[in-house]
Amino acid sequence: PEIGTALVTAVEKRRTKIEKIENLLKPLQMSEKILQEVQARMRQEMERGLEKETHQCAFLKMLPTYICSKPTGNETGEFIVLELGGKNMHIVHVRIGGRPEEERSPIKETYTLPQNLMKGTGEELFDHIASCLLDFQKVHNLGGNKMYLSFVFPFPCKQTALNQGCLIKWTKGFAASGCEEKNVVELLERAIKQKRELNMTVIALVNDTTSTMMAGCSKHNSCEIGLIVGTGTNACYMEETKNIQMEMENMSGQMCVNMEWGAFGDNGCLDDIITDFDQEVDVSSVNPGKQRFEKMIGGMYLGQIVHRVLIGLAHNDFLLSNLEPRENLLELKHLCLIEGDKLSLVEVRSVLLKCGLNCALDEVKMVKIVCRAVSTRAAQLCAAGVAAVVEKIRENRALDHLKIAVGVNGPLYEDHPNFKDEMESTLKKLAPCCTVTFVQSDSKGKGAALISAATINAQTNQST
Ligand code: GLC
Repeated sequence: PEIGTALVTAVEKRRTKIEKIENLLKPLQMSEKILQEVQARMRQEMERGLEKETHQCAFLKMLPTYICSKPTGNETGEFIVLELGGKNMHIVHVRIGGRPEEERSPIKETYTLPQNLMKGTGEELFDHIASCLLDFQKVHNLGGNKMYLSFVFPFPCKQTALNQGCLIKWTKGFAASGCEEKNVVELLERAIKQKRELNMTVIALVNDTTSTMMAGCSKHNSCEIGLIVGTGTNACYMEETKNIQMEMENMSGQMCVNMEWGAFGDNGCLDDIITDFDQEVDVSSVNPGKQRFEKMIGGMYLGQIVHRVLIGLAHNDFLLSNLEPRENLLELKHLCLIEGDKLSLVEVRSVLLKCGLNCALDEVKMVKIVCRAVSTRAAQLCAAGVAAVVEKIRENRALDHLKIAVGVNGPLYEDHPNFKDEMESTLKKLAPCCTVTFVQSDSKGKGAALISAATINAQTNQST
């Protein structure tokens, strides 16, 4: 009987433990009703960003990109595409159109971005970018003719033309001084000029969402949305120009709008779903109070949220009793491995051990559950955002049903074991009147080159 009692107590203890853990994770769970609410608020913030009277104080900036058409397929030319990322910088030489014998696959190089440059001076940052461009030009013998450069700059910029734009504020951990409110094309061109042999000129300043959408157009002719789910998150879409009231009232046609949806929630409109874990991640970031939506979805933050939940479990004596806050304990690549089903529990345990977490097999299961809860919420929130966008486009066009494609880029979509499926299935529920196809696209290749090509073709047509 004693053994029996001990067994019952053990089972009960386990049950209470599971219940308590479930309680701790509850705030991360999004019901369909909450997601519909998030969708409605996103839609409201979109309108506030577009309208003349409310734009100034709106948090969703809905930035005009000066891209008014999708590629026609007749674009030609040779371009350099430069994309600045958090850890790396990508430089690509792209040739589009032309005779088939001239076709060749793009030449690509990845340069690491020394982490101190993210937080140093703008001058150092842009000088480093120019040095990498020079290296690329030399290594690939491109010094002959002047090359046109598409600058994929994945940060919010107030553009006044396709090749002019001021950085509004850094996001995603960047904090280089002397760049905010400056024209970043000027900063880059100044650095380029200082490298005398560098023979390049910036023709387009492009957000990564826009280049992703453009790249998606070559794969699907109704690609009118660009979505990034990488280090950060953001979306752009083709809006009726007349709706971009704060800038282009009375104009016809369409223009791509960079939503900068990462800032959704910065006015407090998501406070009811923001958890204590999110709050802690936000407070310890370089931009507290900013990019609240991005901090619940972006790959840069998911590991940090998981970490905070694990600390919560540890404090309640459920798990890993010696867990302390530490920067970047778990990165997105770890979350993908932990949550996927390719590794056995023992293998996941050694992944965790490499990250500095020593757990028992039982605890590994818990860590998997936590990762799943955090990534599921990210995918669902992202779906709520996309739902708001597709519904807006459907209403713009007064359609009962909209068929549309989204060009999507980023490791959460491409590499994560559950994000893609969760996002797509949630979107189906939230936007039943829209059939949405996702096309995986590249942000740093053909799409950005196409934008420059279209500009040059238009300039040539004007002058003839
Ligand atoms: C951040 C940037 C935005 C970019 C996104 C994805 O949210 O502000 O411009 O598109 O990250 O990289």
